[in-house]
Amino acid sequence: MAFPDLQSEHWEPLLVAAWAAWARAYAPYSGFRVGAALLAADGSVVAGCNVENAAYPVSLCAERTAVCAAVSRGLRVGELQALVVVTESEVLTPPCGACRQVLAEFADELPILLANRRERAVYQLAALLPHAFTGRHLAP
Ligand code: THU
Repeated sequence: MAFPDLQSEHWEPLLVAAWAAWARAYAPYSGFRVGAALLAADGSVVAGCNVENAAYPVSLCAERTAVCAAVSRGLRVGELQALVVVTESEVLTPPCGACRQVLAEFADELPILLANRRERAVYQLAALLPHAFTGRHLAP
């Protein structure tokens, strides 16, 4: 797959979708907007943003709202191809531990591009969450 290459033009539609979702983030409590966009196996791009709540712990991360939106559109295990996460933070923002676990449910190998307004880097999910426990382990 061409995605692990940071320079790949394939990232561009995902970056556009992630920044558009970033602008729609609902983050009145932290003030920290996060946008995410994923590529499904059928070529569709699905975006998500963080959605906070006055009851802080029930706030939702952008990566998970993207996955939930994609699953509701038909995404299934093995069909998650790539993910972009964008913030305006000075340092790149990797997915939190809970989001890594949710992402691992749907992909064994997943290139993740992190971006802010001035830099980008690509990581592999397996490097961010090595030896993940997934539904594949439950198979008889
Ligand atoms: N957040 C995400 O959307 N993704 C992450 O992986 C880390 C944190 C959100 C949750 C909360 O709305 C805000 O960032 C501050 O933690």
